[in-house]
Amino acid sequence: MKDIKFPETAVIREVCPRDGFQNVKKFIPTEDKVKFIDELASTGVSIMEVTSFVSPKAIPQLADAAEVMAEFNKKWNGKVESVALVPNLRGAENALKAEPDWLNFVFSASEAHNMANTRRTVEQSLEELKKVEEIRGNTKLCVSIATAFECPFDGAVEPEKVLKVLEAVFETGADGVTLADTIGTADPSEVDRTLSKVRDIYSDYPFFLHLHDTHGMALVNMMAAMRLGFNSFDSATGGLGGCPFAPGAAGNAATEDVVNFLERIGVKTGIDLLKTVKIAREMETYGLKIMSHLASSSIGREEKETCSQG
Ligand code: COA
Ligand code: ZN
Repeated sequence: MKDIKFPETAVIREVCPRDGFQNVKKFIPTEDKVKFIDELASTGVSIMEVTSFVSPKAIPQLADAAEVMAEFNKKWNGKVESVALVPNLRGAENALKAEPDWLNFVFSASEAHNMANTRRTVEQSLEELKKVEEIRGNTKLCVSIATAFECPFDGAVEPEKVLKVLEAVFETGADGVTLADTIGTADPSEVDRTLSKVRDIYSDYPFFLHLHDTHGMALVNMMAAMRLGFNSFDSATGGLGGCPFAPGAAGNAATEDVVNFLERIGVKTGIDLLKTVKIAREMETYGLKIMSHLASSSIGREEKETCSQG
């Protein structure tokens, strides 16, 4: 460990209200969503993906996006940055009315997943991105590239494909870019292979990484990324999450596991770990199936072993 230089701080973007809730079958009433979101916003997190503006037929769980974003803005504006995921121009138009700090335009590096998720070719999504860029005004724009390592349909995604897509994204312009292991099957060597090439070209760019935990490798993949200087990560409290249009994709890296891990190796997150664990357990009692190691561990329940975070 002493040979590895970790970043001093990490940015955690909480994505449970979007990536987590989109995947829950029973509709979570808006007031309960808002309650969880309020609790999550009070953990010290600096940025949160609050919801997504997508077709309610495709994702009925987030049909209340406008209301949820309005409630968030009322309480957290200027304190926690808000992000709205959008898959198309229509979503961006609707999201802008709700005034998030960020639009997060999503499409995939692989053709098959992009078609399954957004019903567009990669080229069509890149064209749509240009239209979103034209209307976004002062709202910040993040571009999330799904299946940046592996696709559930096309298999391994070559780094060259990701670099090509990135080039097109940067031509259009973005304030942030996310590279996602949407199905959570990448391993540290694949992460290293792609991210080293990305770093060779975009040496200082503050990419976000969105690492699912299907094969239990989210944290080691995070470690592989930090060795290359990446320090901004998505995670979802309770480990909730998964793309309904990517068969087999399981939970996200759980925020409490990520914070515990990072703080224990000396990387500051600014997030209150015990509070996050408590929220994850409240979700559990509400019937949400949490997938975090820390919050579901019986040792953790005594609060003894959790990290010595101040
Ligand atoms: N918000 C609300 N409704 C939307 C929408 C959006 N962003 N995008 C499309 N729709 C509606 C249309 O109004 C239309 O409704 P109708 O059948 O009542 O007329 C219907 O969805 C289909 O419209 P269409 O123009 O064919 O949609 P599209 O091809 O532009 O896009 C998707 C459809 C793929 C964007 C849409 O199915 C979707 O939102 N999918 C969810 C993707 C997602 O969230 N994945 C998980 C997170 S990565
Ligand atoms: Zn995800």
